[in-house]
Amino acid sequence: MTANPSAGLRLGLVGAGGIAEVHADAARRAGWTVAAVTDPRPPRTSVIAAAHPGCREVGDLATLLADDSLDAVTIATPNATHVPIAEKALAAGHHVLLEKPAGLNAAECDRLAAAEAAGPQVLQIGLVCRSTPVAHAVRSIVESGRLGTVYQARAALHRRRGIPGLGGWFTDRAQSGGGPLIDLGVHVIDLVLHLLGQPKALRASGATYAHFGHDIERYLHLEMWGGPPQAGGTFDVEDHASAIVRFEGPLTLEVDVAWAANLPDGAVRDGIVLLGDRGGLFFEPLGREIKMATEEGGRLVDMQPLISPEDAGQAAWRRQYEVFAAAIRGEGKPAATLAECRCTQAIIDAIYRSSAERREVEV
Ligand SMILES: NC(=O)c1ccc[n+]([C@@H]2O[C@H](COP(=O)([O-])OP(=O)(O)OC[C@H]3O[C@@H](n4cnc5c(N)ncnc54)[C@H](O)[C@@H]3O)[C@@H](O)[C@H]2O)c1
Repeated sequence: MTANPSAGLRLGLVGAGGIAEVHADAARRAGWTVAAVTDPRPPRTSVIAAAHPGCREVGDLATLLADDSLDAVTIATPNATHVPIAEKALAAGHHVLLEKPAGLNAAECDRLAAAEAAGPQVLQIGLVCRSTPVAHAVRSIVESGRLGTVYQARAALHRRRGIPGLGGWFTDRAQSGGGPLIDLGVHVIDLVLHLLGQPKALRASGATYAHFGHDIERYLHLEMWGGPPQAGGTFDVEDHASAIVRFEGPLTLEVDVAWAANLPDGAVRDGIVLLGDRGGLFFEPLGREIKMATEEGGRLVDMQPLISPEDAGQAAWRRQYEVFAAAIRGEGKPAATLAECRCTQAIIDAIYRSSAERREVEV
């Protein structure tokens, strides 16, 4: 194993918005050189270049992709551009770290899979919640058999008022593919599948709601990722989604994700619950603790496994780049593969379809 697989690797950033800053910082902390950035908004590339001396601001995508000194590119652009840009980057010979969701739907993932299969480059999808210390610990607990047969998973993530960039690309279905289900749900559905060894989904029943985003000028909020709100913009996605997914065997997954809801504080606990016949556990995706309930020696027992005290977000973002670098050097798999993400995307597609048809549908 290479001492630091990231050392000497040069990264190009496509997209210089909010999350690109987090990528650049994480890549640098892992040992990469942030070498180039492109975005149609020059003030944004300047922010990245100022924080990463030596990083070249490039006027357009084609020029960045033609730079042979780059080993890989990170794509952190609006969702609808993910597959077209990733296809170009792979065709240009770059390894690719593609932000979630991999595509707008499973059909787009299939299109990208064809591009992935055409070359030897690594394609890693940016499902960062897999790389937290808490997710690593939960996965090892599940694999140890400590929970027995896991028959129910629940995943919840709610914001009271947290619609990102209201009126902009996040809330325009043509550019985003949907609301919190594809934005937040993709993280937690993927995480549950990853922790449980990619179980096969069979059917889904879901409902989506849209009650807070339509009146952009009167939307009440305290802060806004990707903001400010764009008056006269588009809001044609859901702001809340809820579903039950049935898998092969006894497993079901209940998922509830909201960008906006009138949820009183403490009414619902955000996080992931895994219920098995020998043990159950709860954790928050970016938290530092796991609470377990089990039986031992004829008694009911509460347990709290100790995990790394590192900041979950910082550790996970850096680890994404370490694992990506190792995969590039042929030392392991990407942290999240397109084939795995396609399974999550098929579930999301089915939930949207179920909501539209108001019935359970095949995944
Ligand atoms: N992993 C996470 O936790 C996480 C968090 C936030 C966002 N994201 C994902 O990251 C992506 C970007 O989100 P964001 O919040 O940074 O959005 P953003 O709107 O802040 O940034 C997107 C940037 O992409 C630029 N852009 C648009 N088209 C481009 C193109 N063709 N070439 C180069 N740049 C282009 C825009 O000008 C903008 O600066 C989305 O797919 C989102 O789902 C992931």
